[in-house]
Amino acid sequence: METDPLVETAREALADAYVPYSEYRVGAALRTADGTVYTGCNLENANYSNSLHAEEVAIAEAVKNGHESFERIAVSSGVRDGVTPCGMCRQTLAEFADDDLVVVCDEGGGETSEYTLGELLPNTISEQTLADADPGTGTNAE
Ligand code: THU
Ligand code: ZN
Repeated sequence: METDPLVETAREALADAYVPYSEYRVGAALRTADGTVYTGCNLENANYSNSLHAEEVAIAEAVKNGHESFERIAVSSGVRDGVTPCGMCRQTLAEFADDDLVVVCDEGGGETSEYTLGELLPNTISEQTLADADPGTGTNAE
């Protein structure tokens, strides 16, 4: 079975991961609305909590190059276990993508699992949530 080219790119990106603590490499390849692809890998830190996730690094690369609309992301781990973006990364993706963003997860060989962002993160907080709130009272309750 032929591997999705975006998954291939995510696999290439995980080679650059800096993972002295978990030894769990993750690569991400993000396709923006105009077809440009940005990649990222996880970068760990001795304090653990400062670790950057592969998806975050790819998103930062895309946004700093002027792309604020995404349409597809592929994620792969070194062990090709079908890893999905964590909750934090799902929320960060939601800032720049609609519910129909396709998330492709590498299961190894030519196998993938595909989800939409809406499936992975339903009812997300968004710009609209804040616009609907009343800043004067801090509440929009009746
Ligand atoms: N990791 C990612 O890069 N993306 C995710 O969304 C899930 C977790 C990384 C963080 C850490 O370096 C390693 O995987 C183990 O959690
Ligand atoms: Zn994450």
